[in-house]
Amino acid sequence: AKNVGILAMDIYFPTTCIQQEVLEAHDGASKGKYTIGLGQDCMAFCTELEDVISMSLTVVTSLLEKYGIDPKQIGRLEVGSETVIDKSKSIKTFLMQIFEKYGNTDIEGVDSTNACYGGTAALFNCVNWVESSSWDGRYGLVVSVDSAVYAEGPARPTGGAAAIAMLIGPDAPIAFESKLRGSHMSHAYDFYKPNLASEYPVVDGKLSQTCYLMALDSCYKHFCHKYEKLEGKQFFISDADYFVFHSPYNKLVQKSFARLVFNDFLKNPSSVDEVTKEKLGPFSTLSGDESYQSRDLEKASQQVAKPLYDEKVQPTTLIPKQVGNMYTASLYAAFASLIHNKHSTLAGKRVILFSYGSGLTATLFSLKLRDDQHPFNLSNIAKVMNVEGKLKSRHEFSPEKFVETMKLMEHRYGAKDFVTSKDISLLPPGTFYLTEVDSLYRRFYAKK
Ligand code: ACO
Repeated sequence: AKNVGILAMDIYFPTTCIQQEVLEAHDGASKGKYTIGLGQDCMAFCTELEDVISMSLTVVTSLLEKYGIDPKQIGRLEVGSETVIDKSKSIKTFLMQIFEKYGNTDIEGVDSTNACYGGTAALFNCVNWVESSSWDGRYGLVVSVDSAVYAEGPARPTGGAAAIAMLIGPDAPIAFESKLRGSHMSHAYDFYKPNLASEYPVVDGKLSQTCYLMALDSCYKHFCHKYEKLEGKQFFISDADYFVFHSPYNKLVQKSFARLVFNDFLKNPSSVDEVTKEKLGPFSTLSGDESYQSRDLEKASQQVAKPLYDEKVQPTTLIPKQVGNMYTASLYAAFASLIHNKHSTLAGKRVILFSYGSGLTATLFSLKLRDDQHPFNLSNIAKVMNVEGKLKSRHEFSPEKFVETMKLMEHRYGAKDFVTSKDISLLPPGTFYLTEVDSLYRRFYAKK
């Protein structure tokens, strides 16, 4: 199989959301902390009617319908998620309800979990399958889904929720450059979920930022090394058109891209312009550790990176800024933003993606975008995703109602024997929702 990659995509996020400006005032944070400091505009969240299973059912059903895919044509289904509803039964098995109806139970794959990285693991599994000798000619399907919620405190504004579905096969408009991948995996306690009775993570915010940037540096070095061996020349930012990052909040994305500029400068000072060389020069002797702690370097590199950021990163930031951190779905929501913004001019472009999951696992990889035939082309993907329409038809909650919802969800997490609200008026038509969890913890869903 040639040009294996993403044939089609769809995205779903809850219509229920809260403006960051409103949350900021309610939390007593200084004005601008969430919007400018973190760089976030709005945050989506699940009410009691939705969870990672319902969002996955919604997005998979929608993708199959909108691209006219016969459910019998799916041969592998992989889910990436870190939202644990059941410690044994995978989200994938809930999705089998869609395929069993059509007599298709011959579908490989289960869930992948490691913080925000599970979606990338699932995606690689599907791409590898199509490229392998066990491929049976059918499509792979990847679902990245999470509901990201934090306890009250500084991390709460960095939540979010969404599901993304990606159809995988050959001759794709979004093709993998499979040889171009650099990974960094190590052991860290930056963000983890040891309390099995709570949906909330334990998080060391400062450490998680440093781990993220260290992983980025390491992945970029491995990636550049492989590129050099393959192409016989050094890789620089100018060799790619767009850079897409896992996006817990936009400020970290700004810092990450600036870090790549600093990497290029260290690798080869003549690869950057005079101003950049002059501004970053004083930092060239810092040790690795010192460079992560230096606020001056952070500021200087963000400043010199700004024009390139506006060109190569800004078009990828819309959905993560509007919806929040969607954990496994964040990177792919950022990529979906790029397709939404630039679909008509993307053919022939190279896009670099950086996936990070705390704990930690990270990979930097490369995609090549191509012009292709209906229904699998970039403009149709943009049309099907309808990002603009989905963002416009949202319902803003007051902070009081948001906090009340979070309290109810805390109560419901791991609970049994309840039915959910009968008021489904805020759900768009076609949305799956939770109706009941019975005395044996079995979950039941309906479609609006
Ligand atoms: N106006 C403008 N900017 C402001 C204001 C203001 N009034 N107040 C603060 N800021 C800036 C700060 O200067 C800082 O920006 P800087 O780093 O560029 O200097 C930014 O806002 C955040 O302020 P902090 O004081 O650093 O924020 P705090 O420590 O309270 O929380 C954090 C931020 C750590 C990101 C927290 O939200 C968190 O723990 N989130 C979850 C962890 C996370 O997402 N980690 C990322 C990788 S792991 C993952 O994906 C889960």
